[in-house]
Amino acid sequence: MALLDVRNVGKAFGSLKALDDVSFSVNAGEIFGIAGPNGSGKSTLFNTITGIPFGPDRGKVLLDGAEIQGKSGNDIARMGLARTFQRETSFDKLTVFENAMIGATYGGRQATPTAQRDNAAEALDVVGIAAKDFGRLAEELSVFDRKCLMLATAVAMGPRILLLDEPASGLTKPEIETSIGLIRKIAARGITIVLIEHVLTFLMTLSQHLLVLNQGQMLAMGDPKTVISDPRVVEAYLGTRKPDL
Ligand SMILES: Nc1ncnc2c1ncn2[C@@H]1O[C@H](COP(=O)(O)OP(=O)(O)OP(=O)(O)O)[C@@H](O)[C@H]1O
Ligand SMILES: [Mg+2]
Repeated sequence: MALLDVRNVGKAFGSLKALDDVSFSVNAGEIFGIAGPNGSGKSTLFNTITGIPFGPDRGKVLLDGAEIQGKSGNDIARMGLARTFQRETSFDKLTVFENAMIGATYGGRQATPTAQRDNAAEALDVVGIAAKDFGRLAEELSVFDRKCLMLATAVAMGPRILLLDEPASGLTKPEIETSIGLIRKIAARGITIVLIEHVLTFLMTLSQHLLVLNQGQMLAMGDPKTVISDPRVVEAYLGTRKPDL
């Protein structure tokens, strides 16, 4: 059975069909990539899966066989599904450690306060944030470090599955290389990953399966190499924005 099963999901904003009959499943342990031109519905898909800030208008989302569509974002997070956002998001006036503690406290893991602190510290260590920086305010960090902090906060939740929305956007080439390593490290901890990215090399390097959306619809899905050479995918990208190969 798939860990995450998205079935015929739809979401409209007025007359705009942001998602139209989207279905896919993600197996435990895999990295599943999602690509698509700007405005194709990628972030809306994460919003509807996680319930943050809204669920789908129609269709079903199953986490380990249990229907989660219509549940609150908080309940879904406690069931083991975490996400990051396209723009680096943190509690700016809290410290690095306090941010990670929010993940450790509100995630799905039942833990004592001491274990929560250990989970927060471990998650920060996983993304490479040094203990000497734990007391700094989140707002003092660089863009890259704030992205890492957002990732650490999600990891501290102890998710079974983690949804990453464009983790490489706005990063330099060396930072992108570091991010690839971090995502591999997180996957190696047994966390299943769904990854939205514009940088196709990033997706090609990391994903076992790839879904391409276009105008809210599924354009292609399957083995990344096959998908990326699909003429419809090439056209969708070249018609809007050149792929970052
Ligand atoms: N809350 C909202 N209200 C109205 N329209 C929305 C809302 N969220 C998204 N949209 C619209 O839905 C469509 C899909 O947007 P979405 O953000 O999911 O695209 P995306 O694939 O993530 O794009 P990008 O690559 O630029 O991040 C766009 O036309 C967008 O303007
Ligand atoms: Mg988006």
